[in-house]
Amino acid sequence: MRKKLIAGNWKMNNDVEESLSLVKELKSKELNDKVDVLICPPLTSLYSVISELKDSSIKVGAQNMHYEERGAFTGEVSPIMLKNIGVEYVIVGHSERRQYFNETDFVVNKKIKAALEYGLKPIICLGETLEEREKGIEKDSVRNQLTKAFDGIKESQIVLAYEPIWAIGTGKTATSQQANEMTAFIRNVIAEIYREEFANKVVIQYGGSVKATNASEILNQPSIDGALVGGASLNADEFAKIVNFGN
Ligand code: 13P
Repeated sequence: MRKKLIAGNWKMNNDVEESLSLVKELKSKELNDKVDVLICPPLTSLYSVISELKDSSIKVGAQNMHYEERGAFTGEVSPIMLKNIGVEYVIVGHSERRQYFNETDFVVNKKIKAALEYGLKPIICLGETLEEREKGIEKDSVRNQLTKAFDGIKESQIVLAYEPIWAIGTGKTATSQQANEMTAFIRNVIAEIYREEFANKVVIQYGGSVKATNASEILNQPSIDGALVGGASLNADEFAKIVNFGN
């Protein structure tokens, strides 16, 4: 049985004080212990949030990193630096990074390799554009991203997040059937690249306008193993409701 992973991607929101107050509120709530809960605050809040969550089961991830260990890369942060402060997961290849920061499949692949090398668990984001879905080539697009992401990578502890670009921050959610169909497709492609046994173990999340009101419908789909939540993770009540979707 795969354990569900429900993650909050705070994106570029919350300074240190705001981050700590959100985390304290979240900590005070009763959270479903059948799922793993993860939050990904902005870089400047990571250290304080990790310290605040020392005795909590809530896990912490970063939203991005460089693939090099150190060097002349102004403004970047390395996997080793994240690992050093206790970061456990790192989001790689989010569509906003692909779209606004020219992150290519090649770079995504290098980042996955670097994350694994330094003991971080990558959450690899993939998803099609609206145009691709309208043309009926969404599966080709996702297969292409997957194949390139996994190039040269052995079976490892990875998480995938299917985030159709047209559903991110738009209030438009993929239907639970669309999301389930694509996550099942992703699992089949992983089975083709690796083995079915491995594919059955990989956690595949859905992301894109997940809220308290649609969480249960999405998270009860057989192939969906969690959610990567943007906007709705900025509110402790709302995020807790998503985490407690079954109750
Ligand atoms: P929203 O939940 O705000 O649509 O964002 C989804 C997302 O991009 C999570 O990484």
